[in-house]
Formats: sequence, structure tokens, C-alpha cells
Amino acid sequence: MTFTIDEVEIPQTLEDPGAAGFIAADFIATVEVLNIVEADGYGSDELSATPRELLPSWLDQEYEPKRLFAARVDGRIVARSVFETRPAAEADTVWLGVQVHPEFRRRGIGTAMADELEAVAVADGRSRFVVYTVSRQSDGEQLRSPTGFGSVPLRNPEVRFLLGRGYTLEQVERGSRLALPVNPVVLGDLQHAARIKAGSAYHLHHWTGSTPDCWLDDMALLYTRMSTDAPTAGLDEPEDVWTRQRLADYEARAALDGRTVVVTTVEHVASGRLVGLTAIGAPAQPDRPALQQDTIVLREHRGHRLGMLLKSANLALLTAEAPGHPSIITFNAEENRHMLDVNEALGFVPMGYEGAWKKVLPG
Ligand SMILES: CC(C)(COP(=O)(O)OP(=O)(O)OC[C@H]1O[C@@H](n2cnc3c(N)ncnc32)[C@H](O)[C@@H]1OP(=O)(O)O)[C@@H](O)C(=O)NCCC(=O)NCCS
Repeated sequence: MTFTIDEVEIPQTLEDPGAAGFIAADFIATVEVLNIVEADGYGSDELSATPRELLPSWLDQEYEPKRLFAARVDGRIVARSVFETRPAAEADTVWLGVQVHPEFRRRGIGTAMADELEAVAVADGRSRFVVYTVSRQSDGEQLRSPTGFGSVPLRNPEVRFLLGRGYTLEQVERGSRLALPVNPVVLGDLQHAARIKAGSAYHLHHWTGSTPDCWLDDMALLYTRMSTDAPTAGLDEPEDVWTRQRLADYEARAALDGRTVVVTTVEHVASGRLVGLTAIGAPAQPDRPALQQDTIVLREHRGHRLGMLLKSANLALLTAEAPGHPSIITFNAEENRHMLDVNEALGFVPMGYEGAWKKVLPG
């Protein structure tokens, strides 16, 4: 069986039926492959994304440069691969991913795509490769995370594949699902207890969609701290700096993706600064799950139950602004006990696991 690999041109829009239509068709086919592979790994299609939801991130070539490649057999796209980096010269890291349709595996497509991605990275002067990929859970021998929390089955195809290419497992991420609606009494009790602990030193703000102008600087700082304050084990991922301009650009693009984003933030009253945030993206279709986006409480304000205060309040906001979704899905590092404690108390249960892998070329 022969295959070819080409770079996929990112369409500016999915709606132009004219000349752009052909370009969009390839992009859409890569999203279908992604969804099939994720459903296979998680045993659930709840993580499916639409091309419209994914396109805005692909159109951000300024802050998060990305390249998309596709492998074809007889003209049909059967695999995709992704190269993502950051523009800063000191950012030596690239994030790579290869997804091969389950019916087209063990034919060398994954190897050819990974070889090409790594060659692109080397040509770009990058020597640290990071891969996040789902590992379907099964019994049998496990490869344990060096963090001491979580493992992936040693015999899984992606584990064999990545070990064979010289990657090391650095961290395990837990995907969790919360069935909606949450019992309002349980939610109210959790929120009440968190409010008492947080006291009057902290005040919540809520909005849907874009950040109000007055909070752009504070939100940019919170997004930046997501890259330094969340546990990243031995991945050594670089600081990802957000400015108010980057945030405004990001939100302008995201506004076109069809999702409603509900945001709750917490202000430290004495300083007048935001010190925590949580956001949930709800798709336009009420029968699809909502996706938990970033949650952070700045280190210097931890220990006041602000995590629970934010998340329980934002759940109530989701119910008010975008009701009817069957579930919320979230991802956390398996060693992130503080966040997992909050999520488990709200009723999140594990739905699958991802390995986070690293390969560093010798300097
Ligand atoms: C991992 C993945 C990309 C491999 O794609 P593929 O096209 O099957 O890969 P290849 O045919 O090039 O396999 C290369 C080597 O990986 C190992 N491998 C792949 N699948 C394997 C399996 N099911 N069992 C054991 N070893 C396996 C083997 O060493 C294989 O070489 P061999 O066939 O000569 O024995 C594919 O299984 C996949 O898409 N998985 C889901 C997404 C993912 O986890 N990606 C991670 C990489 S970024």
C-alpha cells in the first residue's frame, strides 16, 4: 500500500463554497481523522470537535504557529500530523502529534509522519519535542509515570511507537467527566462552604464571551501563569506569555467558533486585582458536552477554597447561560491533587488517560 504526505493549507473560512471549498475539504477530513482516533482512544465520542470549533486556533499563526500535514491513500486522508511551536526565539519546544486512522495502522504511515515532523522541528532549530496522546486503559504491564501518579499500558500501540522513537513518559493526564445536571443542593452546599472559607476578602465576577476591557491585563497575567503554575512534571514547557493584545485577538477569533464561553473570575478586594479564573466552553448543540477550559488560582492566593468557589459558581452560570448539555469534560495532571479534589467533590469521574511524552535531542 502506498501513501503520500502533504502539508494541508489552512482555510480562512469553512463557508466559502467556491475556490476555498477544496482547501476546506482537506482540513475537514483531518478533523474527522482526529475525532475517530480520539473516540477510539477514549471509548467515547464525547470529545469530538467540529471543524468550526478548531479553525480559530489554526488561524492563530502569530502567537501559536502551527503546521498541519495529511497522509493520503488513494486520495483519501487517513492520517494527520501537527507541528506547533511558539514564536519566541528562546522557545526551544515544539508540540507534535500524529493520528493514524485505526484501519490504516502498522503500514509505516505513523513513522513517516513522525519522521517528517521531527525533521521540520530540527530545520526550525528546535530540539525539545513534547507529545500528548490518549492511552486506552487496559490490564497488563504498565509504564508508570515518573511523577508517581498514573501509568499507561506498556503494550499499547502509541506507547510502543513513542518508546521506539526515543520518547520518555513524563506525566499522565486524567480526562474526567461530570454528568449534568449537578444536584443543585450539592452544588449549593459546596459553594456555601467555599464562600465561608474565602470570606469577604474575595469577590466573584462573571461574564460570557470576551473579557471586559478593564480586566484584560489581569486576565493576560492569569493566562501566562497557566503555563508556569500548573504542574508540568519533567516536561519543562516554556512560559507562554499572554499580552492584552494576544488575549483580545484570541477572543475575537474564538467568538466565531459557535461556542458560548462562560467565565467566572475572583478579585482580591484589597488589591483590586483578579487572582483566579475558570472558564467553560459550551458548544452550540445542547446535546454535546461542554469543555472545561483554563482554571487557575495564583499561588499566593491558594488555600482559601477559591478553586471550589470559582468552579461551583461557574457551573451555576453554565446552567443559566447554556443549559441542557449532557456533561462537562476536563483534563488534569494525575498528580494535581488540589484540582482533582475540587473536581471529584463536584462529581467528576475519570473517563480516560493521556500520556505526556518528551524527547530532547542531544545538544
Ligand atoms: C501511534 C500511531 C501513530 C502509530 O501509527 P502507525 O502508522 O501504526 O505506525 P507505524 O506503522 O509506523 O509503526 C511504527 C512502529 O510502532 C510500533 N507499533 C505501532 N503500533 C503497534 C502495535 N499495535 N503494537 C506494537 N507495536 C506497535 C512498532 O514498533 C511499529 O513498527 P513495526 O510495525 O515495524 O513493528 C497510531 O497507532 C495512532 O495514530 N495512535 C493514536 C494516536 C497516537 O497515540 N499518536 C501518538 C504518536 S504522536
